[in-house]
Amino acid sequence: MNASPKEVMLSAVTPSGLLTLGNYLGALKNWAHLQNDYDCLFFAVDLHAITTKQDPKELRDRTYRALANYIAAGVDPDHCTLFIQSHVPEHAELAWILNCHTYMGELSRMTQYKDKSTKEGQSIPVGLFDYPVLMASDILLYQTNLVPVGEDQKQHLELTRDLAIRMNHHFDEDLFQVPEVFIPPVGARIMSLQDPLAKMSKSDSDPHGSVYLSDSDDQIRKKIKRAVTDSGSEIIDDEQNKPGVHNLLTIQAAITGKKISEIVTSYAGKQYGHLKVETAELVVQALKPIREKSEEMLKDKTTLDTLLKKGAESASKRAAKTLKKVQDRMGLVLKKS
Ligand code: TRP
Repeated sequence: MNASPKEVMLSAVTPSGLLTLGNYLGALKNWAHLQNDYDCLFFAVDLHAITTKQDPKELRDRTYRALANYIAAGVDPDHCTLFIQSHVPEHAELAWILNCHTYMGELSRMTQYKDKSTKEGQSIPVGLFDYPVLMASDILLYQTNLVPVGEDQKQHLELTRDLAIRMNHHFDEDLFQVPEVFIPPVGARIMSLQDPLAKMSKSDSDPHGSVYLSDSDDQIRKKIKRAVTDSGSEIIDDEQNKPGVHNLLTIQAAITGKKISEIVTSYAGKQYGHLKVETAELVVQALKPIREKSEEMLKDKTTLDTLLKKGAESASKRAAKTLKKVQDRMGLVLKKS
């Protein structure tokens, strides 16, 4: 008997910065497991990255690097669809169609747009305003059931759902699958080492706040040693009053799979210094194989290029099916094949 088809799960990363320990423990590490249970599509959204200024060389480098990091972290291109967004032109095409059904008011309310646009001064790119529509296109093209996203992207997913429901209502109830947010059973939210109240971010202007997947062992040790801890000296888990300590404990728990309470017990009578040194060693050991495998793949990109070509072809085939259906239902004349 054939099992029922797996649900479609899709997630993407914007290559606007180097991936961090937070991306690894909060996303990549999970994806490596999820790819067995779901029909997964993972990709790098270079067209989203260019909604803010990018250095061309760095953009290209980071796009490759992000995908190498995925694979090095256990995402297996034989068990999921791995690709670069701009290799699948259907993303931009469906985005245009969705644009014609999205309201200015809806996009003006997006908090990420409000935050980012204030940094752009007088000249706000239209692409930045339209960013959530391209994201909706990413998701709806594959009839996605589940989207694992962080808190900061939930509003964009809500807009995607609204658009899907609206267009299903206008055209056909089976036009788009209405996607849901996926909350992984395990997943760690890692905070900045310099400001444990803010999420560790790949675009943090302070490089000491984030451990990057490309950092050397020494850089990792230095950053964790400099991590902001809290007043007092006792190692207890108190997120409210000791967010810095809580963050280091969370990192340890995410790497080892141990419970935080268990880790706390093992630190009875010890100092913050011990916690930092041991957290640093755990991170060094966890990231070393990922860094080494990534560097290996980036040295000669032939293998990566071949994988990405295959991924894009398979994604494109699926995307074209949805796009055609949408064009047809809307009354666009389909090109005869
Ligand atoms: N906007 C997302 C972020 O910054 C990246 C993204 C683009 C995405 N398209 C997506 C995430 C589709 C999930 C699904 O994190």
